[in-house]
Amino acid sequence: MKIMVLNGSPRVNGSTSAFTKVFKEAAEASGHEVTVAPVGGMKINGCLGCEFCHGQGQSKCIQHDDMDQIYAHLNEADMVVIASPVYYWGFTGQMQSVITRFYNTGKPANATKYAMILSSGSPGVYDGIVSQYKSILRYINAEDAGILTFWGDDKQCEENYEKIRAFAKSL
Ligand SMILES: Cc1cc2nc3c(=O)[nH]c(=O)nc-3n(C[C@H](O)[C@H](O)[C@H](O)COP(=O)(O)O)c2cc1C
Repeated sequence: MKIMVLNGSPRVNGSTSAFTKVFKEAAEASGHEVTVAPVGGMKINGCLGCEFCHGQGQSKCIQHDDMDQIYAHLNEADMVVIASPVYYWGFTGQMQSVITRFYNTGKPANATKYAMILSSGSPGVYDGIVSQYKSILRYINAEDAGILTFWGDDKQCEENYEKIRAFAKSL
């Protein structure tokens, strides 16, 4: 499968970046082709609500920022992995902007499977994100391949990495 991983963390040495790296290595070892977009460090504006994409734009967004690079890979992907820290019970702003901007085509063209890897300070903070994610999957008729959540101060550990490797292997 072609897998697109969206890493929503702005911290290049943070836990989400570490989880993303472990996932990529393990999924590639299983024969998948993995592209990671460092969404947290990219310039991705919020949607302008102009509806250009649903008219004259014919599914193209009127804005040209780093989302152009993401669209190119996203529309090739068979699977999308949303990896994000929890910021105030939601995705990071950068990740939310990427998800919102699925709006131009309604959904990535070929992806039928999705998964999430979430990182947080506290446990039990995922309800809002999981609800949004599941609602979107229902809307775009896609399959949830799994949701992995990690919390606390010592998340970058072998035990967690093994869970991610096992998940990647199961795909
Ligand atoms: C702006 C901001 C908001 C946060 N909000 C929450 C939150 O609502 N719940 C929580 O458990 N942790 C929250 N955290 C902690 C992060 O989710 C946690 O440190 C996470 O592991 C960071 O991921 P990273 O290591 O990939 O940067 C927040 C951190 C920041 C900077």
